[in-house]
Amino acid sequence: MTTTTSLAGSKKAFASSILEGLEKHPKQLSSKYFYDKKGDRLFQEIMHMPEYYLTDCEYEIFDRQQQAILEHIGQDEAFELIELGAGDGLKTKVLLRQFVDQNIDFQYRPVDISSSVLEQLSQSLATELPNLEVAPLHGEYFQVLGELKEIGDHQKKVIFFLGANIGNLTKTQSRHFLSQLNDLLDPGDMVLLGIDLKKDPATILAAYNDPAGITAAFNLNLLERINNELGGQFELNQFKHWEAYNPVSGEAKSYIVSKKTQDVRIEALETSIHFDAWEAIEVELSQKYSIEEVDQLAKSANFKVVHNFFDSRHYFVDSLWVKGVKEVT
Ligand code: AVJ
Repeated sequence: MTTTTSLAGSKKAFASSILEGLEKHPKQLSSKYFYDKKGDRLFQEIMHMPEYYLTDCEYEIFDRQQQAILEHIGQDEAFELIELGAGDGLKTKVLLRQFVDQNIDFQYRPVDISSSVLEQLSQSLATELPNLEVAPLHGEYFQVLGELKEIGDHQKKVIFFLGANIGNLTKTQSRHFLSQLNDLLDPGDMVLLGIDLKKDPATILAAYNDPAGITAAFNLNLLERINNELGGQFELNQFKHWEAYNPVSGEAKSYIVSKKTQDVRIEALETSIHFDAWEAIEVELSQKYSIEEVDQLAKSANFKVVHNFFDSRHYFVDSLWVKGVKEVT
């Protein structure tokens, strides 16, 4: 397949997913489409906002507890550190540096569907951590892990899934995702999962509703993307960002709300979408957990919790899990 046809293919997939979502009741668009070039940049800004505590918490955990994390992973056996959705690896680098400095026998294997993300990461690691063994894996998470299983790679694996990315899935979807992950692993393999915890609702709301409007711009960029890539005619100032947090369910949800009755033409979809006044599109779920719910999640996916690493405020947890126990032969 040439690049142009696969590009056209991904554009088609984008178009049909947008159409499907806008025809739902309530309308629903996936937050995975936030991340075009501008979206990536806005997310970087979000991670630097004082209100967005998540990144700082996980950084603090890695920075202060690197030795404990390493001890709980165990150093008696070489391992592959497989990171799902590595991004720029800013937080992971803290740990990687520590592991390299201690001559730990491991390989770093970032997984991403974007080959340009993997290239950039590999390049920055080559200069910053020249002694680190990097072997990127290009593709979808389960496709890549399935292939490793197929080729009979039974080296110990430690899967990193950080940054509360699991929060974009509902609790049911998370259970399925982690069970599927469990199926692809061997006993003794581990998972380090970054999870945002339930806390003062005001703190959570502020993280997704900053006064500077960066989160609003991040969410509304999805409409801009539809304008740019699908010939949409969304007027961004006729929509607003809205955030709601339910402290019982732990769901923080982002909406894009239409400020008036309007019909929006989307050329590539060959249709117009009708919005009632104050009709909302659901765009993102950021699920929060209690620590009991984290334990239940691990159990339901057949993992055992090895250790919970908290930040000093207990806002966030990096939970280390193991699949079964390796039999001693
Ligand atoms: C990247 C999915 C973890 O849900 O906190 C940040 C994305 N959205 N601000 C999150 C996000 C709005 C973020 N995750």
